[in-house]
Amino acid sequence: MTDKPLDAIILGAGAAGLFCAGEAGRLGHSILVLDHAKRIGEKIRISGGGRCNFTNIHARPENFISQNPKFCISALKRFTPQHFLDRVNDAGIAWHEKTLGQLFCDHRAQDIIDMLMKGARGTGVTIQGETTIKKVSREGAFFRVETTGGTYLSTALIVATGGLSIPKIGATGLGYDLARQFGLDLLERRAGLVPLTFEGAILENAKTLAGVSVDAEIHYGRTMFREGLLFTHRGLSGPSILQISNYWRDGEAIAVNLLPSVNIATSLADARRENGRQTVEKVLTSYLPKRLVQTHAGTGDHRVGDYGAALGRGLAEVGNKSLDQLARHFQHWQVYPSGTEGYRTAEVTLGGVDTRGLNSRTMETNSVPGLYFIGEVVDVTGWLGRYNFQWAWASAHAAAMSL
Ligand code: FDA
Repeated sequence: MTDKPLDAIILGAGAAGLFCAGEAGRLGHSILVLDHAKRIGEKIRISGGGRCNFTNIHARPENFISQNPKFCISALKRFTPQHFLDRVNDAGIAWHEKTLGQLFCDHRAQDIIDMLMKGARGTGVTIQGETTIKKVSREGAFFRVETTGGTYLSTALIVATGGLSIPKIGATGLGYDLARQFGLDLLERRAGLVPLTFEGAILENAKTLAGVSVDAEIHYGRTMFREGLLFTHRGLSGPSILQISNYWRDGEAIAVNLLPSVNIATSLADARRENGRQTVEKVLTSYLPKRLVQTHAGTGDHRVGDYGAALGRGLAEVGNKSLDQLARHFQHWQVYPSGTEGYRTAEVTLGGVDTRGLNSRTMETNSVPGLYFIGEVVDVTGWLGRYNFQWAWASAHAAAMSL
């Protein structure tokens, strides 16, 4: 048992926990960070393809999903992408902007981990890995945390244990268990930013096309994302699919536009006017890989004709109705995913600690003074690979400032 209670114990040395520790340390607070992992910051290390897409300069509250969409506004306003970028610049980390304001390290994600660790340790914070949290309880005005490395007391307890995605690198439900223990409500959790799986003929075709990627528009209700789509051995992946997976619900269909840049019905009709002898396939393969055109046409709805057979015909032989149906098959391909790849490959966990129990300025719980939840454990989930870290930094900053 420590002699003197600490100002705060942070559970979880991931993005939110490490950043919170550094921010609180800078203000002179005594902080202990506990994590069960052997290697600290593993999720940061593998993020952004090893280069950590550490923020998006255009991050806005609209890029986040939550049962209370307004909850994230205050924290995101008070700690913006530019604020984090200033820290990255101060640390001398080389970075570059990819499309859509996404900022990546030039070299490796480890640069961000080093910055966070140095930032925290430089202010006297202790970061203790390989520590199992055995029990958390209230002892008078303090929190008591019993671990395999000892028992600690603190005035504040900050839960930053993340979500359930990728258990192989340390994800557990501890944060949710603690929320339950302290009487907070939990919202349904499910895997997000995750590939979609299929069965039957669609799966067989996806397997044939595994590795092929195209620009695509994916629609689910009124939500639409236009980014890359990748065929895989299990179904569909790629940024557009990961994005829509945050919204998709079991048993529902998504609509895929494999040709988002053109009106293919018009292009086919124009091509027929110019030269009716050219084949349907020739026109389609000027926009899409041949393998995709042939395989996809083979998945046609045979009640309205065999698209595969139509491919080899001259355009003059194919009537308007068939061309329209073919165009629809490529531009409004409606498919029913059978599920997702789950937490094994999901980048995030949707849902979690209900924000109604938290103060949006500070992340402190309304019912237990000194108890905070930050980062992914909270019901705030960002769009793909640019926004989730910004939420981790912003919510961590909010909590640190209120200690
Ligand atoms: P995080 O998961 O980072 O940290 C939680 C910590 O708690 C871990 O260190 C874990 O070991 C610890 N912990 C859990 N259970 C515990 C227990 N029982 N006892 C002790 N410790 C425990 N986002 C983004 O913005 N840009 C990107 O490029 C990417 N890329 C990306 C790639 C991949 C493959 C994944 C899986 C995820 C991303 N993300 C991302 C998402 C991003 O990594 C994620 O949202 C943040 O890491 C969440 O930060 P937290 O600190 O909340 O959780």
